[in-house]
Amino acid sequence: MNEPIAIKKQRQINIVLNQGNDKPKTDESLSQGKEKAMEQHLPLIKMEQELNRLVGMEDLKYHVKEIYAWLHINKCRQEMGMKAEKQALHMLFKGNPGTGKTTVARKLGTLFHEMKVLSKGHLIEAERADLVGEYIGHTAQKTRELLKKAHGGILFIDEAYSLGRGGEKDFGKEAIDTLVKAMEDQQHEFILILAGYPKEMDRFLKLNPGLPSRFPVIISFPDYSVEELMEISKRMLAEREYVLTKDCEWKMKQHIDRVRNSENSSFSNGRYIRNMIEKAVRRQSVRLLNDFRQDRKALMTIQSDDLVLEERDLI
Ligand SMILES: Nc1ncnc2c1ncn2[C@@H]1O[C@H](COP(=O)(O)OP(=O)(O)OP(=O)(O)O)[C@@H](O)[C@H]1O
Ligand SMILES: [Mg+2]
Repeated sequence: MNEPIAIKKQRQINIVLNQGNDKPKTDESLSQGKEKAMEQHLPLIKMEQELNRLVGMEDLKYHVKEIYAWLHINKCRQEMGMKAEKQALHMLFKGNPGTGKTTVARKLGTLFHEMKVLSKGHLIEAERADLVGEYIGHTAQKTRELLKKAHGGILFIDEAYSLGRGGEKDFGKEAIDTLVKAMEDQQHEFILILAGYPKEMDRFLKLNPGLPSRFPVIISFPDYSVEELMEISKRMLAEREYVLTKDCEWKMKQHIDRVRNSENSSFSNGRYIRNMIEKAVRRQSVRLLNDFRQDRKALMTIQSDDLVLEERDLI
């Protein structure tokens, strides 16, 4: 190494890169370099902007950057005549209901299309019934048809663990075998994402020892905190051009706190918030129906009594 090394305090070493020899960079050349980098990484910048509209999801945001960087550097290596291995990008999404798995899969399709990893980037969503047939040979045929539809895009299988439900004799196994074969034979023609709740997915993978190693990217979608759920609610409302009164915001927070921390294991995170908001919007419309003062502010505002929170709506 030619770079000078400055030893500061114990165990702290500073390495100064490009010292002295290079011409000092002018502001203009620096900003030109920055512009060029931005232009070159436009798909990543766009994707980061898109993902930043989603609350939390740090694990996902990191993985997307890692995949982007790997693809980009591979391209640079190829241009210099170096080896550039093609890797499959099949993924596992582990998360409870409403934690954003489907939303993210859709966005990834667009990103991979822009990065030319996928020729179309569309999302085909499927579940057990779309893959598993009723007689011998039917399952492989159904699964192959789905794979054909997903060609150039993402095949997203929700509650994937249900494929392993019936053991050896179940046709689910045939679906898994067909998928595994396609993952190898057509590995650069589609991306397979298996999604499901964390515990069930772990059990499913344990039962199918050949599977885990075929999924290089495993992404966790943790449950949202109360603060994150409130932030999701604010963003959903802003998107729909609504605001909450202070009272209503307080009421919502108390309620989310209670539901989020209750024993109810089927709490559906972002979907719960969406349903709650949509219900409040409908209530607000009824309240405004016979009100003649329908100014802009009134049309936008959700107040405390629009938010009807019933125990049976907790899921
Ligand atoms: N981080 C987030 N920021 C904003 N909205 C979110 C976020 N996560 C989820 N949502 C919203 O919550 C709703 C449910 O999300 P989605 O359908 O993607 O969840 P899911 O994990 O696929 O659920 P399931 O496992 O039940 O299929 C959607 O309206 C989505 O936009
Ligand atoms: Mg989903």
